[in-house]
Amino acid sequence: MRAKRYEVAVNYKLIGENFMEYYHLPWVHPELVKVSRMEDHYRWQGPGMYTGMCTTPVSQNTEAGGWEGLPPLGSLDEDDARSGRFVWLFPNTAVVVLPNHAFVIIAHPEAPDFTVEETFLLSHPESVDVEGSGAALGQLMRFWNLVNLQDVEIVERVQEGIFNPAYRGGRMCYRFEEPLHRFQNMVVDKMVGIDRVPPGDEVEMSQMFVDPAEASDRTN
Ligand SMILES: [Fe+2]
Repeated sequence: MRAKRYEVAVNYKLIGENFMEYYHLPWVHPELVKVSRMEDHYRWQGPGMYTGMCTTPVSQNTEAGGWEGLPPLGSLDEDDARSGRFVWLFPNTAVVVLPNHAFVIIAHPEAPDFTVEETFLLSHPESVDVEGSGAALGQLMRFWNLVNLQDVEIVERVQEGIFNPAYRGGRMCYRFEEPLHRFQNMVVDKMVGIDRVPPGDEVEMSQMFVDPAEASDRTN
């Protein structure tokens, strides 16, 4: 296990909301979007106090890094051996499960505008019991740190924006922000004392971003 701590000048819920949507990838994470391509994102939502999405397939590392390096677990089925699962567990924990490691973020709310993030890179003995695993773990940690620092910067900007009295709220983005809507409803339920577990989707996986070229192929 490797761990790293971040201090973030935001309300912890913004960290969660940022984790749940991925349309910021091309602008905030130029390196990540190469290994977790927009068109490979799916909703992955069952019933429960969480929001879920899936990237499949996870793409190969680029010169800027990625999620490969350690060998994937041999026990995975074909789907899991090439997929990344992203879950925000209500209220404050992110769990990312990839074929060769997992990454966890726990967002500790310290103040309305201050959060301490503890992050953990977890690996299975089977993946690290190979030559070169130390270097592979180092590469993974550097990649996660790069992605996380990019997220920290953007959520701190969001915090500044919504604390500006000129900000009066706004509409959510259709489809892309549905997980945020789900999360906000869970928060509201807890605030008003409603004990409710939101249902899941009827379809286990549905593609969130359809490539325009593919969409026109389908209609032709
Ligand atoms: Fe991000």
